[in-house]
Amino acid sequence: MTFEQPETFAFTPESLEKAQAFIAKYPEGRQQSAVMPLLALAQRQHDNWLPRAAMDVVAEMLSMPPIRVYEVATFYTMYNLKPVGRHHIEVCTNLPCWLRGSDEVVSTCKNKLGIDVGETTADGEFSLAEAECLGACVNAPMLQIGDDYYEDLTPQAVEDLLDALARGERPKTGSQSGRKGCEPATGLTTLKGEDA
Ligand code: FES
Repeated sequence: MTFEQPETFAFTPESLEKAQAFIAKYPEGRQQSAVMPLLALAQRQHDNWLPRAAMDVVAEMLSMPPIRVYEVATFYTMYNLKPVGRHHIEVCTNLPCWLRGSDEVVSTCKNKLGIDVGETTADGEFSLAEAECLGACVNAPMLQIGDDYYEDLTPQAVEDLLDALARGERPKTGSQSGRKGCEPATGLTTLKGEDA
């Protein structure tokens, strides 16, 4: 996929206000600690991907050498260094999710969308990525799209999810198996009633 890096980037006044609020959370001399939220803010403003010009702006705001900002942005998978689809699907393939079937989740996405990991559909609607643990292992396997988590996935649940997104719907987030939160998958074992 070829894409152009924009020459410049500027925070909108609204983003700038949020950026200043993040920076103000850190003690004098420790403002560089705000690098991650500022990069996230820049990405959110820029169609969910982070151009180099944005990293340079963040570096300047925090008086950091640009290379140190690039190091952060290239380390974490939450930063997208190239354009992604309107629905950016990140499938957790870390150990607990893998043990619970993340291979099938990835292959269902690939087959349904006709793309490989790291690619975007021709219409720009979907892109697919693998991610390390997203912190919802108890409801594995799971995937993230934007700010939403979809958990307890099966190949059929993934198909239904992608179909709903393609229809322009926002599917119910969280567990797709019907269990409440992260209660035991086989039903409650304690706290079953008032007498329990
Ligand atoms: S291993 Fe997938 S959410 Fe933790």
